[in-house]
Amino acid sequence: MYTKILGTGSALPKQRVTNEDLAMLVDTSNEWITSRTGISERWISTGESASYLAAEAAAKALADADVEPSQIDLVISATVSPDNFTPTVSCEAQKALGLSRATCFDLWAGCTGFIFSLMTADALVKSGLFSHALVIGVEVLSKLVDWQDRSTCVLFGDGAGAVVLSSSSQPGLVTHVSGSDGTRGDVLKIAGIPLANPWMAQHVGESETGSQSVICMNGQEVFKFAVKTMESSIRRVVELSGSSLHDISYIIPHQANNRIIESVAGRMKIPREKFFTNLDHRGNTSSASIPMALDEMNRAGLLLPGMHLVLVGFGGGLTWGASMVRWTR
Ligand code: ACO
Repeated sequence: MYTKILGTGSALPKQRVTNEDLAMLVDTSNEWITSRTGISERWISTGESASYLAAEAAAKALADADVEPSQIDLVISATVSPDNFTPTVSCEAQKALGLSRATCFDLWAGCTGFIFSLMTADALVKSGLFSHALVIGVEVLSKLVDWQDRSTCVLFGDGAGAVVLSSSSQPGLVTHVSGSDGTRGDVLKIAGIPLANPWMAQHVGESETGSQSVICMNGQEVFKFAVKTMESSIRRVVELSGSSLHDISYIIPHQANNRIIESVAGRMKIPREKFFTNLDHRGNTSSASIPMALDEMNRAGLLLPGMHLVLVGFGGGLTWGASMVRWTR
């Protein structure tokens, strides 16, 4: 028993924010942002919730897959910016789309969340417990960005991407690799709600780090970590699948920074064109970036039956992972 991708979808908020718009907010410029990151514009929620974007992307994926809501029995949403602690984004998407048969839960793994969710759904479908899964990556990171911090606020965008999976007699999701290093979590952190209750000596209105819940990042450390783990993840997943780098039609990386991707391509001697990027017009959408890129490729007709794709991500935690996909549609 195998698992394959039947359809893809994505959704964006309505508000487009250009580099020029950001230059009116903080001391930056279009030249600095494009040359250091490759990002020109991103889409920012002015009211769209994570659940709304997730349901919209999922509805499009269901239509693309020609699968009825009643057939879905599993929903996993990757996010670090849910609307609520409970109900989850997945349960909210269930309500919006009438996925009455589904078991729904969210998964947190920083920007690697989509890869971990795909791997989890693949294992659960292969086990025979479920037959049709929706895997969603969704973020409204704009509420976690410090809009006064020019080193981070220029990087991120909001959005959602989704895929529909089904059990299959042919391999579609070929294999996965994954890893984590909890000792290096401080390199990229979003603090949670601080502990406060009537039994504490003093109510502290701050988290243990003394910061609010905003993205704090050591950009250069993340850069080095990203280049190293993307290269090793691609090599391992290709090796594990029994193929070679030459067999890969496209690598779909987490869309964080053009320079990271160029550096990986250069080190691995893979033509840059094999790495699909859309970060110039999406920014870094964390868990949503890989499924949004996949959907853009699918709708542009870039994906042909039998093609081998590597999806590869890295993120807070620290976490990393890659999936080998054989496109079967
Ligand atoms: N505009 C203008 N100047 C800026 C900006 C900005 N938006 N941001 C920082 N600078 C300045 C700094 O203040 C610094 O000035 P100084 O020399 O006077 O002190 C100078 O630019 C250089 O700063 P660095 O942080 O060294 O810049 P760097 O070249 O490393 O680029 C960046 C920063 C783009 C964040 C880079 O480190 C990077 O891409 N890191 C990878 C991190 C990443 O992509 N994270 C994504 C989120 S994590 C994830 O998705 C898993």
